[in-house]
Amino acid sequence: MVERKFDRKLQVRTIGLREWRKQTGDYNRYEATPYTALEKLFRSYTLKSTDSVVDFGSGRGRVSFYIHHQFNVPVTGVENNDKTFEEALDNKALYRQKYKKLDAPIQFEYGLAEQYEIEPEDNKFYFFNPFSVNIFKKVVRNILHSVDEEKRPVDIILYYPLPEFKKFLKKETPFKLINKIKAHSDHGQYGKFLIYRLTT
Ligand SMILES: C[S@@+](CC[C@H](N)C(=O)[O-])C[C@H]1O[C@@H](n2cnc3c(N)ncnc32)[C@H](O)[C@@H]1O
Repeated sequence: MVERKFDRKLQVRTIGLREWRKQTGDYNRYEATPYTALEKLFRSYTLKSTDSVVDFGSGRGRVSFYIHHQFNVPVTGVENNDKTFEEALDNKALYRQKYKKLDAPIQFEYGLAEQYEIEPEDNKFYFFNPFSVNIFKKVVRNILHSVDEEKRPVDIILYYPLPEFKKFLKKETPFKLINKIKAHSDHGQYGKFLIYRLTT
């Protein structure tokens, strides 16, 4: 099975789901982006050594490890479920043991995505349906504020893009849709990536 093969290669455990004990309606469950989808995304979308990625709602860290392993760029995962966050840290220890030579930083921060302080070098922002559009709006406003302070081009990458996210980005922000990548038929019409760019 492909998912297991990639987990073994990266020496991590990211398969499975985790529901919240108390559902709020705002924060979604853990489920990793399929590796096969990540493979398709990064066939046509590449990262440069100067890029710095944030995965909002990083779960057990699959996207962070995958990107770090492929591009050796700085990656930050932000996760607010304490158990899931601990699992990401366990994964990081094992991953780092195996891939000592990849020297870019990889870090996980415990906390709410909407409270993450965007660093001036952060320029690629990844979301796999982590939370409601109301929380997404707050995070995007933080990104825009950061770009106001430190002018730079930034991308938002959405996997499983729901209509309300697309509508918000189109109608209420300066981000422009630059690419669509079909990636995973098991997720039906939502099994795709949309990439939005803000150029300054
Ligand atoms: C669908 S999973 C995506 C995991 C990972 N990004 C990936 O693609 O493999 C969404 C994750 O977001 C986390 N999450 C939900 N709301 C959050 C919030 N407000 N701040 C940080 N993490 C959150 C969940 O606990 C879950 O682990």
